[in-house]
Amino acid sequence: MREALKVIQQRTEDQLRAELAQLALADARLADAMMYGVLNGGKRLRPFLVYATAEALGGSREQADAAAVAIEMVHSYSLVHDDLPAMDDDDLRRGKPTCHIAFDEATAILAGDGLLTAAFEVLAKAPHQNDRQRLTLIRLLANGAGGAGMVAGQSIDLGHVGKQMTLQQLENMHRHKTGALIRVSVQMGAAAVCDTLAPATEQALIAYADAVGLAFQVWDDILDIEGDTAVLGKQQGADLALNKPTYPALLGLEGARRKAQELIADAHAALASVPGDTRLLADLADYIISRDH
Ligand code: IPE
Ligand code: IPE
Ligand code: MG
Ligand code: MG
Ligand code: MG
Repeated sequence: MREALKVIQQRTEDQLRAELAQLALADARLADAMMYGVLNGGKRLRPFLVYATAEALGGSREQADAAAVAIEMVHSYSLVHDDLPAMDDDDLRRGKPTCHIAFDEATAILAGDGLLTAAFEVLAKAPHQNDRQRLTLIRLLANGAGGAGMVAGQSIDLGHVGKQMTLQQLENMHRHKTGALIRVSVQMGAAAVCDTLAPATEQALIAYADAVGLAFQVWDDILDIEGDTAVLGKQQGADLALNKPTYPALLGLEGARRKAQELIADAHAALASVPGDTRLLADLADYIISRDH
């Protein structure tokens, strides 16, 4: 897994650089902030999901590049905005000062806007897809990133700072704020290489993605308590400091860990119904709940 992850991290980094270089960014400070927000050593797990899904369905890495770049641009924008003083007010991200600390708040807002918009430009001119496939990719990403997906999750999150949440509400929040982009990574990986999927395969991939997506955020919540700031690359204890609703807060650390393990077992069970080589997807599921950052 670690070797495969490294290869995909390098590929994603190269693809991001190439796409950003083509954007004709017209303001140097904004361009620097956009690069800072996206070329700063993320784990690239969403691109990994795009490539791994494409591969399971018999597609090539080249076919998946545009989708991988686009999802990482959107994810990175979401982190730049998530760290802003008006949101989580964090000063450390991916081991470096957050974008608004390294630049300033207005520039960080604009850098996020720039990355979000760039993602759709990348998809609109994806070289290995036809117009119909490009449109599908754009629609999937818009749906996962916007008010039906990630942005809604962020809004629910901020609306409940310091408030109680039921387990059901917490799960709904997580499924949106983190799950939506993870689901869409898998869907885009499939849409980049296949025009139509057998309904059973599509359902199995979505079940896999939803289980992995929820487990991912449960583990993120656990790391906020148990992680080490230097390894995490972001401030440990940030959720606690803001009194954020989290899985460990509701279930306890052991309960949260058990929940994550059950979800990963569900993810593996779902993969059994996906034809093709699903080893990378299976490895990623295990990695999600063994990672230390
Ligand atoms: C962090 O995501 C934010 C969440 C959605 C929980 P990642 O843990 O994937 O962050 P990077 O991209 O590796 O920095
Ligand atoms: C962030 O969730 C989710 C998105 C950016 C959409 P968190 O606020 O838990 O992420 P971290 O812990 O700051 O990375
Ligand atoms: Mg947040
Ligand atoms: Mg945060
Ligand atoms: Mg977190």
